Amino acid sequence: MKKISIFSLSLLLIIFSCKPAKERLPAADRPTGLITQQAMVVSAHPLASEAGKQILARGGNAIDAAIATQFALAVVFPYAGNIGGGGFMVIRQADGTTATLDFREKAPLAAHRDMYLDKKGEVIENLSTLGHLAVGVPGSVDGMVRAHKKYGTLPWADLLAPAIELAAKGFPLTEREAAGLNNRAEIFAKTNTVVPRQFIKEWQAGDTLVQTELAATLQRISEQGRDGFYKGETARLLLEEMQRGGGIITQEDLDAYEAKWRAALTGNYRGYKIITMPPPSSGGIALLQLLAMVEPYALAEIGHNTADYAHLLVEAERRAYADRAEYLGDMDYYNVPVKQLLDRSYLLERMQSFDPQHATPSDSISHGRIMVESEQTTHFSIVDTQGNAVAVTTTLNGAFGSKVVVGGAGFFLNNEMDDFSIKPGFPNMFGLIGGEANAIEPGKRMLSSMTPTIVEKNGKLFFVTGTPGGATIITSVFQSVLNVIDFGMGAQEAVNAKRFHHQWKPDMIMMETGTFDEATQAELKARGHKLFDRGKIGRVDAILVLPDSTLEGGADPRGDDAAAGF
Ligand code: GLY
Repeated sequence: MKKISIFSLSLLLIIFSCKPAKERLPAADRPTGLITQQAMVVSAHPLASEAGKQILARGGNAIDAAIATQFALAVVFPYAGNIGGGGFMVIRQADGTTATLDFREKAPLAAHRDMYLDKKGEVIENLSTLGHLAVGVPGSVDGMVRAHKKYGTLPWADLLAPAIELAAKGFPLTEREAAGLNNRAEIFAKTNTVVPRQFIKEWQAGDTLVQTELAATLQRISEQGRDGFYKGETARLLLEEMQRGGGIITQEDLDAYEAKWRAALTGNYRGYKIITMPPPSSGGIALLQLLAMVEPYALAEIGHNTADYAHLLVEAERRAYADRAEYLGDMDYYNVPVKQLLDRSYLLERMQSFDPQHATPSDSISHGRIMVESEQTTHFSIVDTQGNAVAVTTTLNGAFGSKVVVGGAGFFLNNEMDDFSIKPGFPNMFGLIGGEANAIEPGKRMLSSMTPTIVEKNGKLFFVTGTPGGATIITSVFQSVLNVIDFGMGAQEAVNAKRFHHQWKPDMIMMETGTFDEATQAELKARGHKLFDRGKIGRVDAILVLPDSTLEGGADPRGDDAAAGF
């Protein structure tokens, strides 16, 4: 592997930076999102954004609005919005103080390292992704209760009211949602012990989806808070569902679940402060690694989505994801070497094998040596009238999670257990591999790629971002940050811009259709890259604070996403 000195690296940066940049769209043709004066919500569904906006308009803060949006998404976006899953919340208050809330699911207490392997030690197909054994102990309701306890200003019941109404009265399905349900009718019927009839029919766009059982579950949560989910009727229905389907979650698991406040992970990139999620997210660490690895390069001069740009980002991504596989897991169970992984000299050392003309084969890259150590998710960004900001990414893991709907309670359960490394080196549903750091242990949280992130400029709020997309979450958030900082894009332009992704293994660049023209693709192939067109990548929902302090929403046109504000 070619090593280069710091001196030759500097020379290389100059040569590498002198290629002609690809032209940006003329200013008049650049897409612009919703612009508002005071407050905004951007989420995966117009009705969820509206629910959050109404809370903001009534004087609720960004955390109140986040809680209302989370519960509304559980109704109008059952594909990933949830009460049966988990997620992360990153908070930046107007005074600059930060916090993160980890409401990631946990392995049930009866879980064990080899629970998805047969007697020969081979992975049993679908066991970690489909059905009752795939389910981690849900964290979303406990997370929302804790967020409200610490920061909420409006009554809890007011925050659930929009979701309850949407579930009880129903809402019109979008074309995308109708297709999403139709495509899975068979698997819903096959996976469930009690067929979830409310989700199964020949749906057309505009049809009304009513979820009576879910409305009743949400009502119990509204009246009883945490106990409305983890105890009483909802818990009984969930545990009965587990017993009918061979799941292992018990009342002890529900009692033991607790979301955790964790100190935000912070870093600097070109003078901007990056506020993001610590483990069990792998995204925060990987994002800060990626930003540090590309910071020495003049990206704006290299040009957006040119061959040089893609090559540089991909080589940084290859290295960050190799570290992810080796070192990242739940910090409560594994000693994640956060400081060392983010050490600037370590990251510079990692990039010493970077060759601007040739891809480094992933088999020749391992994790670095340090001295110790969906699309199926959904993200929303919120800024309130006081300037408080919240970024939340929440998930069931796969589309509709394990596909199990709790009989009588009407909500989907996650299949988050697949985010563990179920066997060393065996790829999860996103092709990510791992080992000891992310092995299954009772009560442990599975590693996540979710990367809710807030960026500060000169001590003031600048950008709120995040996305679904499994393994691609990290690289989509990375590119959204580069788009606004290095390329000066607005929120909508940054969100719309085509994306690409590399995750070390498999050794290929995954790209959106149309990301690279023919010549750029040929140049990347000549450097040794394999290219794979995977249609679309991510659904970034972001808010940018413009120079005049107004807010621009970037709602991703890849989905039904929408901004709402005033
Ligand atoms: N389930 C996707 C993630 O947490 O990365």
